Amino acid sequence: MPHLTSLEDLSGDELADLLRAAEAFKKAPPGQLLDGRLVVSAFYEPSTRTRLSFEAAALRLGAKTLGFADQASTSAAKGESLEDSIRVLGGYGDAIVLRHPDTGAAKRAAEVSGVPILNAGDGRGEHPTQALLDVMTMTESLGTLEGKHVVLVGDLANGRTAHSLAPLLATLGAQVSQAPAAGLAMEGVPTMGLEEAARGADVLYMTRIQRERMAADADPLTLDPSWLGSKGPLIMHPLPRLAEIPRSIDTLPTAKYFEQAQNGVPTRMAVLAWALGELP
Ligand code: NCD
Repeated sequence: MPHLTSLEDLSGDELADLLRAAEAFKKAPPGQLLDGRLVVSAFYEPSTRTRLSFEAAALRLGAKTLGFADQASTSAAKGESLEDSIRVLGGYGDAIVLRHPDTGAAKRAAEVSGVPILNAGDGRGEHPTQALLDVMTMTESLGTLEGKHVVLVGDLANGRTAHSLAPLLATLGAQVSQAPAAGLAMEGVPTMGLEEAARGADVLYMTRIQRERMAADADPLTLDPSWLGSKGPLIMHPLPRLAEIPRSIDTLPTAKYFEQAQNGVPTRMAVLAWALGELP
């Protein structure tokens, strides 16, 4: 069963195929590749981009979608286990796109599911399709990522996008550093200051403080436009953006976060086609 709970689920060839297909689907959408299929979106946590770009991808490939965007309207509110819900949903659709507040939820779901589980974010764990679209966006601007210096910024302890992106970048030959908000570093990645990163890196990957995943609040790191030279780094963010990026930066040609969000559709088209055995 082709689950995508982490990018570790993919072989090197599958990863390359997905990135290639995402770029191809962006240039020329493949039409009704998933005609007759039904994709279930099970979102136990808030989402704008991930849920709607998965659904847009499914609909644009001719699949139908059904699901929920608020766990309060499901039997989870009555105490049903994730495992029982997943067993049931797998009887209704051909793949399940799952977002859940518990770290490890996607792997738990994959253990009991009769249909592919696509992890759309599990707690502090992983967000593999976000990392794919992040890399697609970087590659479009930089070409190869081999030797490029990418600095992850913000709440890297709790941010699942960074947890999926850092190992993917390393696999692709990029040099990865972090500029964490105070007390919110990730393990195993060298640390530097945000100003130094803004003046020298190829990519700044900004992230917000994950307030819903911590007891006490923390201060965000904010990018100062005066640190960016005329050919500054690409500025990326999985969004939602809070105080990390002043809006004056939005008009710079290096500001890539809205393009990044758009790349969610072709990337998730590729992931759905792969999961349902229809990747060309
Ligand atoms: C991210 C997430 O849900 O982890 N959002 C997204 O999918 N683009 C980032 C975040 O919420 O901070």
